[in-house]
Amino acid sequence: MIDNKVAIITGASRGIGNAVAVQLARDGFAVAAVGTSDEGRIVENLNAIRSMGQPFIYIKANIASQSDRKAIEEKVMDVFGRVDVLVNNAGVAPKVRMDILETTEESMDHVLGINLKGTFFLTQAIARAMVKEIQMYQGFSPKIINISSVSAYTSSTQRAEYCISKAGISMITTLFADRLSEYGINVYEIRPGIIYTDMTAGVRERYENLINNGLTPIKRWGQPEDIANAVSVLCSGKLDFSTGEVINVDGGFHIRRL
Ligand SMILES: NC(=O)c1ccc[n+]([C@@H]2O[C@H](COP(=O)([O-])OP(=O)(O)OC[C@H]3O[C@@H](n4cnc5c(N)ncnc54)[C@H](OP(=O)(O)O)[C@@H]3O)[C@@H](O)[C@H]2O)c1
Repeated sequence: MIDNKVAIITGASRGIGNAVAVQLARDGFAVAAVGTSDEGRIVENLNAIRSMGQPFIYIKANIASQSDRKAIEEKVMDVFGRVDVLVNNAGVAPKVRMDILETTEESMDHVLGINLKGTFFLTQAIARAMVKEIQMYQGFSPKIINISSVSAYTSSTQRAEYCISKAGISMITTLFADRLSEYGINVYEIRPGIIYTDMTAGVRERYENLINNGLTPIKRWGQPEDIANAVSVLCSGKLDFSTGEVINVDGGFHIRRL
């Protein structure tokens, strides 16, 4: 077993997950970065993690696949021998935005299969590994951090399946926080607002206008690093008497205004 604490970050090949992986490596974690891309296509992003000088592996895996989830757990345990943090960040938007009266079963299965089912069963597998290590060794204080969205509570009728998946992640947070509290495993949810990544590339102009017109009290795009900093704080142990907590990293989007 290596001395570094070990963090698994899903969706770390780009965007928010990549920034989280860089930050946790900067904080001294060994990092297992998960994504579906071939390693050769994301060399620069992976090098950003590697350049922090901590032990690092990339695992090409689809979290919607049972065998891939098993492979993630096995690879991390084989290479590092421990897991201290799971950041459930991997997620997709619908391939096509469609009015809720037109949403297809195919799109629902695709989005829920990755965002919800994949996240649930990866969490279950890694939580079991965390429980085992707590029972075998002293000094472990594992954490699970779910990246949901303001879409967990905000209606977008053009992407119902995404909103439903994110509302489901909020319940995954509550359920695992409750179940795992007896082992000292804390579970948190981060709700990002509008973040400047590939996911928002297709709606950049629209969101730009909304932000400029006052959609968020803090008038700027969120950056992947905003989320990475929040993850870093949650992993620091300074919030260890909190579990099931939701951290809004959204420029104040959640504030109701009159
Ligand atoms: N951007 C925003 O405004 C925003 C706001 C709220 C919440 N979020 C949430 O934050 C998370 C990250 O979003 P992002 O903006 O960084 O998105 P992104 O730039 O589109 O990146 C998505 C990441 O998820 C990975 N991924 C997708 N499907 C996967 C699968 N089946 N198995 C494993 N990895 C998979 C991708 O890896 P590959 O490319 O290698 O497949 C990629 O690394 C998502 O859960 C998203 O819903 C984003």
